[in-house]
Amino acid sequence: MSRPPAPEGRAARPLARVDALGKVTGAVRFGADRVPPGLAHAALATATIGRGEVLSLDTAAAEAVPGVLLVLTRLAEGELNAPVFLMAGGTAAQSLQPLLDDRIAYRGQPIALVVAETPHAAAEAASLVRAEYSAEPVSVHLDDGGAEVREQTDVLSYYKNLEVGDADRAYADAPARIDATFDLPTQHPAPMELMSTVASWEGGVLTVHEGTQNAAAVRNGLAAQFGLEPERVRVVSPYIGGGFGNRNSLQVYTGLAAVASRRLERPVKLVATRAQMFHNSSFRPASRHRIRLGAGQDGRLVAAIHEIDQQTSRHDAFPASYTDASSRLYGVTDFRGHQRLVSTDVQTPGYMRAPYEHPAVFAFECAVDELACSMGRDPVAFRLANDTGTDPVSGLPFSSRHLAECLRRGADRFGWASRDPSPGSMRAPDGSLLGWGVASAAYKASSTPAITRIRLDEDGRLTVYAGGHEMGQGIRTAIVETVVRDLGVHEDSVSVEIGDTDGVPQPLTAGSWGTATVLPGVHAALVELRRRLGLPGSGHTGLPRASLEVEATHLAPGQPAEALDRVRAGALAPAGPVYPGFTAFSFAAHFVEVRVEPTTRRVRVGRVVSVVDCGRVASPVTAESQVRGGVIWGIGAALREHSEAEPRHGGFLNADLAEYTVPVNADVPGLEVEFVDLPDPLINPLGVKGLGEVSMVGVSAAVANAVHHATGHRARHLPIRLEDLL
Ligand code: MOS
Repeated sequence: MSRPPAPEGRAARPLARVDALGKVTGAVRFGADRVPPGLAHAALATATIGRGEVLSLDTAAAEAVPGVLLVLTRLAEGELNAPVFLMAGGTAAQSLQPLLDDRIAYRGQPIALVVAETPHAAAEAASLVRAEYSAEPVSVHLDDGGAEVREQTDVLSYYKNLEVGDADRAYADAPARIDATFDLPTQHPAPMELMSTVASWEGGVLTVHEGTQNAAAVRNGLAAQFGLEPERVRVVSPYIGGGFGNRNSLQVYTGLAAVASRRLERPVKLVATRAQMFHNSSFRPASRHRIRLGAGQDGRLVAAIHEIDQQTSRHDAFPASYTDASSRLYGVTDFRGHQRLVSTDVQTPGYMRAPYEHPAVFAFECAVDELACSMGRDPVAFRLANDTGTDPVSGLPFSSRHLAECLRRGADRFGWASRDPSPGSMRAPDGSLLGWGVASAAYKASSTPAITRIRLDEDGRLTVYAGGHEMGQGIRTAIVETVVRDLGVHEDSVSVEIGDTDGVPQPLTAGSWGTATVLPGVHAALVELRRRLGLPGSGHTGLPRASLEVEATHLAPGQPAEALDRVRAGALAPAGPVYPGFTAFSFAAHFVEVRVEPTTRRVRVGRVVSVVDCGRVASPVTAESQVRGGVIWGIGAALREHSEAEPRHGGFLNADLAEYTVPVNADVPGLEVEFVDLPDPLINPLGVKGLGEVSMVGVSAAVANAVHHATGHRARHLPIRLEDLL
């Protein structure tokens, strides 16, 4: 490992967020901030039935609104090709492209795109588009009559259920057992920035400004939709106001805005409304988890069975991968997973922060807690006794695993030793019931190939061109911090160019692999820069003024070089969590205090202590912020968030921020964050594992376990509401 120690003064202190000033002063430009000359504004008209067909459309009133330029309904043959779903080897959020035919697959599906001189005229006109439909019955919940349940192995040919040992037999023979089923609701990511796109054509080249986590997919997806070479599409994703999974691919409206722009020969901007975002971007599907655990009298887990039903759309199979995490939490050598998909009348669901791990670990860690309590064992001690250094699935060692350290440090800092284990036995000073709960977390450590360029100008300025997207996680800060630590230059002399397909390839930033991809890539480019400048491999010698550009690649351990070609072609190429010789996961432990008001049963979270093992912490300021965000989301998932699907007409009823309730400041207590901060020795030269998602995993379980400790009530669904505790 050639990384030199931090020099005196320079990056010996953690860097503040490099774009903080730009963000709070409005200098930073998001996708929809783009205002090219001649800009026209688009708005969507959407279906009011949940399934069926459009019989006729009346656009006369819309066209009569002053300033209206175009009302797009059915597109011309060949004007826009249907996209391919991301998880079917394509680039798009779903395979269904609105305006190609008359079918309606979900309520809120676009039926027209109106373009006008102003956003107000477009919105008014869109509201005047009238449709006649033939409507069919809808199914939006897992148990609805028309919901179709299928074995995932039948739907996805590559998929196999996870089976290690003989879990059914080990479970049957176990002296202590638990069998519990947990329901996790449909949820929507609610980023501050609305979904938007700005499309323009010039000289046969399509340029799109859009807050996306996957500029490569948007570029390649649009190229395929328009039958163009990818070189004729440029996608710029400058900053994203929250990328939580639903911005991971080509959206349904991007191609429509581009069609409108082409027809009008003007740039077109579309900003979807909040309700349209709830119905036309991906969301966290409902899932049901039956967990069976068996343990010996010694408190060792001997069997785990995890069976899942997960919602998907009729038109796409969003895969279920819940058992990857639940099988790695503890040293359970007999594990059986079983996953089924349930087709419903919704837009295709997708990834939303800790997409599988949050629901899976909620169910698993509630069951673990219940089993430990039923055996009269301390929940922390029970978890420590079941820790392992070996991945029970692959049989390989974990590259690094400091879960036990997370649990011990967290217990110390939280004051766990003074906990009275009896439910309802502790009181807060204000008389409310006090509950203390704990949960473990695991999230796979992946990465994707990185192609990175660094340019050193004669005035000493460094520009880093990296494949990544800034969605608030602080990737620019982490890049600058890596350069400053390595070369000892001042942070103001480093610029970062990311999210632009005119630079280096821009693969998907997701799966908590952003930092673990981009920073090793930057490191590789720095090694090359040092070599070209004749600088020693370590120590800060000062940077000679020069004009030079270097490019370097980084691959995950054992990843074939063809993966670089995949990334250059805009395809997905993630590696991990199983690598040659080891398995890599990030870990965390969360300790939560809840206070339950005795009469109203109102639940407040009093404090949270989180200790995280994400390998080496690359950027302490933004890392801590990431964990706070994850914990807040876990609190929201435990006590607030639920998208209410409408059972007769389809769609979601609470599709705005007033009724889709997320935690506000009053819901968020003091959050204490600590990192183990030990570099992973195998995953990459910087020892960095993922952080964004593991920080949310397990929080809801710790809340639920704390609610049990306060009240004696075991949550079997989320969110936990007052009426559950009466
Ligand atoms: Mo994330 S849900 O992997 O964008």
